[in-house]
Amino acid sequence: MDTETVQKVYNNYAVFYDILFGIITDPGRASAIKRLQLRPDDKVLEVGVGTGLSFPFFPSYCHITGIDLSEEMLRRAHKRIETLKLSHIAVERMDASRMAFADDSFDAVFAAYLITAVPDPWGVLSEIKRVCKKGGLIVLVNHFKSNNRLISSVETTISPFCSKHLGFRTDLCISLILNDRELKLIDRRRLSPISLWEIAEFRNMKGQPWI
Ligand SMILES: C[S@@+](CC[C@H](N)C(=O)[O-])C[C@H]1O[C@@H](n2cnc3c(N)ncnc32)[C@H](O)[C@@H]1O
Repeated sequence: MDTETVQKVYNNYAVFYDILFGIITDPGRASAIKRLQLRPDDKVLEVGVGTGLSFPFFPSYCHITGIDLSEEMLRRAHKRIETLKLSHIAVERMDASRMAFADDSFDAVFAAYLITAVPDPWGVLSEIKRVCKKGGLIVLVNHFKSNNRLISSVETTISPFCSKHLGFRTDLCISLILNDRELKLIDRRRLSPISLWEIAEFRNMKGQPWI
């Protein structure tokens, strides 16, 4: 998966993205945003904001910045901001693995269904830590590779196809993030016992590994 492929796939998805991924993935967005414990005037970054399906779940007393690679997804996010008159939200085109923001720009960072859709998850995590204030919350909602051997072997097998044609990989282990000593796990839970997705909440301990 490379940046060009990701842009192309999501530019193509944009027209029917909300129909395909709206209702079934909304509970993840809603629960994850609650975990951010947002306070008035908090500055929040949403990485890989897509068409802005998360927007209704953010409180209007915060300042939300969304970034994404795909112009077509962003066009829909812009439209949602206009239609719903969401003056506390702004979006712009930016590669999450090379963000233009200064260090410590945000109080909290949120990423829904993103980390398996980026060509360079390690680079993106490193950028998320850089732009988030030390001690800030980083909340991800995503599918990660199963612990079940049969399911994980299927996920490994289909991952190259999914990366190339569907814009996400299925073989990413959550250990990538859990092994990062600058990210302290606060909570990790499945949306439901049978859900494909889980919410993982971390405190940014950059510069001060917690073990
Ligand atoms: C599965 S969609 C999730 C969109 C949105 N977060 C949601 O909840 O519907 C993944 C998004 O990540 C974006 N993306 C992938 N790689 C990216 C990168 N390196 N930088 C910024 N956005 C990226 C894609 O363009 C796409 O909009």
